[in-house]
Amino acid sequence: MAKQKSDTIMDKVVSLCKRKGFIFQSSEIYGGLNSCYDYGPLGIELKRNIKDFWWKHMVQFRADIEGLDASILMHPRIWEASGHVAGFTDPLVDCKKCKQRFRADHVEEPGVCPACGGELTDERQFNLMFKTFMGPVEEQANVVYLRPETAQGIYVNFLNVLQSSRQKVPYGIAQIGKAFRNEITPGNFIFRTREFEQMEMQFFVKPDTATEWFEYWKQQRMEYYVKLGITKEKLAFHQHGPDELAHYAADAFDIEYQFPFGNMELEGIHNRTNFDLSRHQEYSGKDLSYFDDQTRERFVPYIIETSAGCDRTLLTCLVDAYEEEQLENDVRTVLHLAPEIAPVKAAVFPLVKRDGMPELAMKLIDELRPHFNVFYDHGGAIGRRYRRMDEVGTPFCLTVDSESLENQTVTIRERDSMQQERIAIDTVRKYLEDRITVRP
Ligand code: GAP
Repeated sequence: MAKQKSDTIMDKVVSLCKRKGFIFQSSEIYGGLNSCYDYGPLGIELKRNIKDFWWKHMVQFRADIEGLDASILMHPRIWEASGHVAGFTDPLVDCKKCKQRFRADHVEEPGVCPACGGELTDERQFNLMFKTFMGPVEEQANVVYLRPETAQGIYVNFLNVLQSSRQKVPYGIAQIGKAFRNEITPGNFIFRTREFEQMEMQFFVKPDTATEWFEYWKQQRMEYYVKLGITKEKLAFHQHGPDELAHYAADAFDIEYQFPFGNMELEGIHNRTNFDLSRHQEYSGKDLSYFDDQTRERFVPYIIETSAGCDRTLLTCLVDAYEEEQLENDVRTVLHLAPEIAPVKAAVFPLVKRDGMPELAMKLIDELRPHFNVFYDHGGAIGRRYRRMDEVGTPFCLTVDSESLENQTVTIRERDSMQQERIAIDTVRKYLEDRITVRP
């Protein structure tokens, strides 16, 4: 019997990702490695643009935030101080019959296996940190961890950045980097994986201003996703109840997105109080307090954290942008990605492969290439070339035709409206810049 074609949005996005070179299964020729993925030519462009968009909003456009890139491997005492060795655990249950493993808090009927209905074991706590050994000797003294969050690299550099940048509290430190969690149940494509990238910002504030800054960052971060082009109505806040709060948080809100598989966390905004700096002060023996020379007060700063997943943001952008648009005689697959993050900014087509059109199109490509990621295509009917670009979210297509040879103009076609206009070739660069530049 032929396999029934699945038509869920997730299946379609996953298939498009593979077909068009956004995301591949890791180690595919060896049968794949569960929950690990590789970004292909278009995927890496999209990912870089998302990181760039975040960096511009969180660092470049602000005078009160500095950037950092801390190492993934850090002193193991950091994870004792942070509470991750003792408390970064998920409750694990095994099925006695089919032997599958589940997170106890993800099982609908307690004690019953969701896969086969068999009996589940009692819960045991499972630490999510990946462990490895530093140096050639595999003994306890040499254990190091792959960081489960990038945040700790920021906390332990609080003084370094403060002193070297001459910032004053309130100020923030931002970082983008890999994090690793030995998740019990990874899944939903790149939504939950064991290796992923985080984009985190830690904002250090005077304790009695923490609530105010927490509100400020909640609003900022929600507005950010709308600027990123995500459908506003699909975004919502979810406040953590007492049983959901991480061990470090006094208050936490998730920004949730309506994924096809449910409303799920896209970013966490946390009031971490002075938990982290106090603990590092205690474990390292270094004074991490701050002296405010205006109020003449000394305090250990509170931290307001905004923590977004890069891969999860990318999935959100793809799922949110995907549309199968019903046209008069046809269905058009289009990714309505914000032009600022689209992997390819513009495609240039000669209408036909003769009469000097390819040469003029290549000349335009050469002029644009130092500034934008552009793509040249002369294969097939013009309509099909447009469709190929729509499917990967290219916001603009430029066509060189016979009129171009006469008066140095091109047609420019906008992806979403499919409207075309004719503009002078020497204004193309400015036209694109006006529409794709990331702005505050
Ligand atoms: N420093 C705080 C922190 O790590 P979190 O809520 O555990 O907080 C923050 O994680 C963000 O990191 C999440 O909102 C999500 O976007 C991303 N994230 C967490 N675990 C992930 C995983 N296993 N796979 C992909 N992204 C993940």
